[in-house]
Amino acid sequence: MRRKIVAGNWKMNGSKDLVSSLVGQVRSELAPLDNGVEVVIIPPALYVSDVVALAGSQIAVGVQNVACWDSGAYTGEIAAGMARDAGCSYTLVGHSERRQLFGETDSQVAAKVDRALASGLGAVICVGETLEEREAGKAEEVVSAQVRKAVADVGAEQWQQVVVAYEPVWAIGTGKTATTEDAQAMHASIRAVLMSLGAPADEVSLLYGGSVKADNAAALFAQPDIDGGLIGGASLSAKDFVSICRALP
Ligand code: G3P
Repeated sequence: MRRKIVAGNWKMNGSKDLVSSLVGQVRSELAPLDNGVEVVIIPPALYVSDVVALAGSQIAVGVQNVACWDSGAYTGEIAAGMARDAGCSYTLVGHSERRQLFGETDSQVAAKVDRALASGLGAVICVGETLEEREAGKAEEVVSAQVRKAVADVGAEQWQQVVVAYEPVWAIGTGKTATTEDAQAMHASIRAVLMSLGAPADEVSLLYGGSVKADNAAALFAQPDIDGGLIGGASLSAKDFVSICRALP
């Protein structure tokens, strides 16, 4: 059974005040939620312990990035085991902003996936094409290659820890959401790639990200291969984030 997941990626936003106001509101709003959605809040790493303290059992917590290594002389880095130790259940890996702004390579993404899974974290592997790649008709080719490289070292027993988030780069933070048809087509393509690799593809949750809002979430989540969302801007509003969580069928 595929997990239905809505994860809020706060990116480099937030404060202790936002943590105490938003997490409490989300918890109280979610209490009657009975659509089985798994809710994840992914704040800047400095606020993880604050979110863990308030999240209770209803909200899972994640980090936005982990290192390729377990420990050592890597100033500024955070190891997957440390995130797990701090109460996290997930990490994002390969977010397009890390690929574009920090030059994260496919091999680094694969190494981070390996460290995350080995540490017991769920790895939310982010993939997505640029506008130029889509306009050149290469979107599926680019995304398929990203998926193949990211999961190259995933062991047969680790697939239940793998989540893939399709985030077209041109839809992130722009208000331009992919059409439900394009999003579903890419999700089906990702699932086919996972199947071709021998993964239990029907059990891997595929999330859509890129300008998901309260007014478009239901149409996206109604698609057969969209199992939830990875939410940026809208996750910074308890009202919007809960509406999106409620939109899962
Ligand atoms: O990781 C989620 C993020 O990239 C999507 O951002 O603001 O378009 O929902 P946003």
